[in-house]
Amino acid sequence: MLYGRNLDRTRIATLLAEAREHRRSGALLLRGEAGIGKSALLDDAEAALRTSGGTHVLRAVGVEAESNLAYAGLNQLLWHVRDRLDALPAAQSAALRTALDAPGAPADHRDRFTAGLAVLTLLADLAEENGPALCLVDDAQWLDDATASALLFAARRLTADGVVMLFAARDAGFAGSGLPELLLERLAPDDAERMLADRDVPRPARARVVRESQGNPLALRELAAAGRRRPPPTRSRSPTGSPPRSANASPNSPTKRSSCC
Ligand SMILES: Nc1ncnc2c1ncn2[C@@H]1O[C@H](COP(=O)(O)OP(=O)(O)OP(=O)(O)O)[C@@H](O)[C@H]1O
Ligand SMILES: [Mg+2]
Repeated sequence: MLYGRNLDRTRIATLLAEAREHRRSGALLLRGEAGIGKSALLDDAEAALRTSGGTHVLRAVGVEAESNLAYAGLNQLLWHVRDRLDALPAAQSAALRTALDAPGAPADHRDRFTAGLAVLTLLADLAEENGPALCLVDDAQWLDDATASALLFAARRLTADGVVMLFAARDAGFAGSGLPELLLERLAPDDAERMLADRDVPRPARARVVRESQGNPLALRELAAAGRRRPPPTRSRSPTGSPPRSANASPNSPTKRSSCC
């Protein structure tokens, strides 16, 4: 369950509804610090599409260790629709075959643009068949350059096909040049408080956890978990039941899925 995020979810829902009802296309770049909820919003978008009967979802995640491997990202994105490549115009099909069969091979600008055009055609074909096509690209800051160029080329040329492309990236990296951006803010205190209440964090401890997490959802989760793991207070400890301070759970340096105590 996502707390807060009403405006952000509405913005994405509007893109999906436009694609479903009017065959309009759109792209959006979700931007924000580690742990702010970018991947969670991509999951939410996928769930929303599936709930409304949509089936076409292509998804890839940038991998830091593969960021120097040309088309590693496209390889991931398109692998399960590779049987559709033959239906594309010959040059486009050939460009994507390179991405799928030989990631790491040098890709010049023209190759990248042809690959971008091919992605666009493929997404439009999918949308044509059975409602909107959703393309989700997470951790875009770690995409290899060839994939990033191809996908941005496609995203900037979306027209009336019923395609939605969502990118998610940390604050630094991935110049989404030309794409509309949605900057994810930290959770409001009320939403953070509800999240902690649902996680059985004792009322007296919540205000401190909200303050320490500064509304970063990952930090909230870690601090809430740390509070739950903490042994029951004894007389010699703080009577508030407050969770311990966690260096790991600061929103300025959130650690990914780390255990913080
Ligand atoms: N609005 C929210 N309500 C409840 N939980 C949330 C919310 N947003 C994120 N979370 C949870 O917080 C954790 C961190 O979120 P997420 O992984 O989406 O962050 P991220 O922005 O993708 O971070 P990174 O840049 O490291 O990939 C996850 O466990 C996620 O489920
Ligand atoms: Mg993420």
